[in-house]
Amino acid sequence: MSRKKLNIGLFGFGCVGFGLYEVLQKTPGLKANIKNICVKDKDKKREIGAENFTFNKEDIFNDPEINVIVELIDDAEAAYEIVTRALKSGKAVVSANKKMIAEHFEELLELQREYQVPLLYEAACCASIPIIRNLEEYYDNDLLESIQGIVNGSTNYILTKTFKDNLSYEEALKEAQDKGFAESNPILDTGGFDAKYKLLILLAHSFGYIAKPDDLLNIGINSIGGLELKYAREKGLKIKLVAQAFKNADGTISAFVIPKFIDSEDRLFNVDDVFNGVITKTSFADEQFFVGKGAGAHPTASAVLSDISALSYDYQYEY
Ligand code: HSE
Repeated sequence: MSRKKLNIGLFGFGCVGFGLYEVLQKTPGLKANIKNICVKDKDKKREIGAENFTFNKEDIFNDPEINVIVELIDDAEAAYEIVTRALKSGKAVVSANKKMIAEHFEELLELQREYQVPLLYEAACCASIPIIRNLEEYYDNDLLESIQGIVNGSTNYILTKTFKDNLSYEEALKEAQDKGFAESNPILDTGGFDAKYKLLILLAHSFGYIAKPDDLLNIGINSIGGLELKYAREKGLKIKLVAQAFKNADGTISAFVIPKFIDSEDRLFNVDDVFNGVITKTSFADEQFFVGKGAGAHPTASAVLSDISALSYDYQYEY
């Protein structure tokens, strides 16, 4: 299959944006070049020269040579504006914005169909684990019965550090922030919201079930009390924030995010630090277990890179 040359218009140059820049430098086989980067903050000191940046999004939208928009900004509303405008103007999009995708899933699907242009977002779910592609391609004809896992790296890091290394909650959160794992509003991580956005995306790709954030229960690690911690320590258990979805006997779907006691027999027991782990159960393959880093510059950029690479093939997407 032949490969297209991609000229990327990048929105956002935070932890993942810079990670993508570095990853692309080290991927010479891919003909993908970041042509322009749109950022908000004019005064911020950046690792690469000012000639690479614009502060005006029109410079990207009006550049006919730019054929892919990569959106890696934090603000879900601004991301929604960028992504919908890009799709309507026929530019393919790669996004890592789980909140934006979870909140507007149906509309984004419609826009892809209407304008026949792809939106890929492997990085929005579990960073380096290629879970969306597996759900879409490998399990295309194998019926999913359940999917569950640790899908938030920051909270897993915090739980690991407070459990194993006896760090305080505040110290562990600060480390997760310093390492670039946490959302800029950390309540999205600690309150289980980020995990819920990811679960909503997984639900759509596992069961074709499209729900809204308000439809699902999320209880975060900020609800874990001293008694639970004491009980887990005494019994040799760990507490993990688990997102899970399964088909009930009557065909309905249940899905929620909750902290759970995990014993050493459970596959999720050894998924520690910033790692994510996802267990799928299907009719034919039975159980499968995916593990990988769930946050951080390069692991997340690797998923963005795989989407960019997919777009570089002259491949007809089906909507
Ligand atoms: N804050 C997110 C996490 C980043 O910790 O999992 C990756 O989606």
